[in-house]
Amino acid sequence: MKLNIENALAFVEKSDYDSLLNEAVEGRTTLLTRTGAGHEFTDWFDVDEKVTGDVDDIIATAQQIQDMSEVFVVIGVGGSYLGARAALEFINSPNYNLMSKNTPEVYFAGNYMSSDAIAEILAIIGNRDFSINVISKSGTTTEPAIAFRIFRERLEQKYGRKGAASRIFVTTDKSKGALRKVSQEKGYKSFVVPDGVGGRYSVISPVGLLPLAVAGVDIKALLKGTRDAIEHFKVAPAEENDALKYAAIRNCLYRMGKKVEIFADFEPALRFTGEWWKQLFGESEGKEGKALFPASVDYSADLHSMGQYIQQGERIMLETFVVVENSRTALVVPHDAEVDDELEYLAGKTVLWANSQVHAAVEKAHFDGGVPNLTVTIKDMSAMSFGELIGFFMFACGVSGYVLGINPFDQPGVEEYKKNMYRMLGKPGFTD
Ligand code: PA5
Repeated sequence: MKLNIENALAFVEKSDYDSLLNEAVEGRTTLLTRTGAGHEFTDWFDVDEKVTGDVDDIIATAQQIQDMSEVFVVIGVGGSYLGARAALEFINSPNYNLMSKNTPEVYFAGNYMSSDAIAEILAIIGNRDFSINVISKSGTTTEPAIAFRIFRERLEQKYGRKGAASRIFVTTDKSKGALRKVSQEKGYKSFVVPDGVGGRYSVISPVGLLPLAVAGVDIKALLKGTRDAIEHFKVAPAEENDALKYAAIRNCLYRMGKKVEIFADFEPALRFTGEWWKQLFGESEGKEGKALFPASVDYSADLHSMGQYIQQGERIMLETFVVVENSRTALVVPHDAEVDDELEYLAGKTVLWANSQVHAAVEKAHFDGGVPNLTVTIKDMSAMSFGELIGFFMFACGVSGYVLGINPFDQPGVEEYKKNMYRMLGKPGFTD
């Protein structure tokens, strides 16, 4: 991957950026020496077995799930959901479930408190064979817990208690939480969410790896991409280190008064990577009244809606484009001299090339409109490229959080709604 920050540097004083780059170097030291706030949740930067779990066991389990299931339901929310969905949509396709394949359809549940969302997945499963993976580090999050009960009931009705138990896969804390207890009691096959890895970094742990392996993703390539990227960012000097540059320029623009960072992609397959990125930066940095608000748009679709605001609305944002150099297909605009649709000048050109011109056009228009922008370019839509991209953002986020002066690895604000909800739902111990 490559990062281009020229269109952002033009908006800042060089000396301010240089000083932020020095702060980013210090932030990296704080991260790597595990001396900063939240350091107990930084195991992810060594992408080793402590983080990934036993990858061969994950692949073998995935094979077993593939053999017995037409549908696989992945139950989880937040960090226990977004990484797997982002990777699946990027590496396979947002239309994965509709495409011809030898692997099970994959549906995500438990990320809304929505009766209809659960009922629709049950209806889609119909009489087909299915298995589930319930993922919750705490083991107590209400939305996935409700979904789990409902899918477990359906499994037990269909396969009996014993049969159901062989189709339930649990990913949770190694010893704590209600889900670990249930899993031990019922004898479900289980995987561990590592202690030192927070939800938003957990796609490289069994949380993300099992669902992805079931969907046929080459998880070893994904992990290699992340590992190689992070190992590079750990040691590369600041001038050659895109993660440090990214952390520096976004903090520089924030200190200048920018309030919003927009993740802008040009491929529908990147939409959920934008959702994952929003969680990564929003949950990591949004505390103590600080931080850029992370937003996302999908181009060209959003050029015809949010594009108006970005071009001419309040000048509060910077924009981070994510561009993929090579598409999986090579569609060409066909020749048609008989129909005068004013498009013959594009005949013979690839859609990929036209998309690159959309990026170039938007980059210039938004720059001219006063929006500093950065471009992250990745080579292709492979598992390895996805791994590199998330390695880049994860490392940059840890560094950026320390530059901002907050703990990038906790999420105390998430608990506030839960306490109210528990009280309102009548959970024992949470009454007024
Ligand atoms: O990043 C996080 O820690 C959160 O988004 C959690 O992943 C999310 O709240 C789900 O929590 P749990 O896995 O405990 O159910």
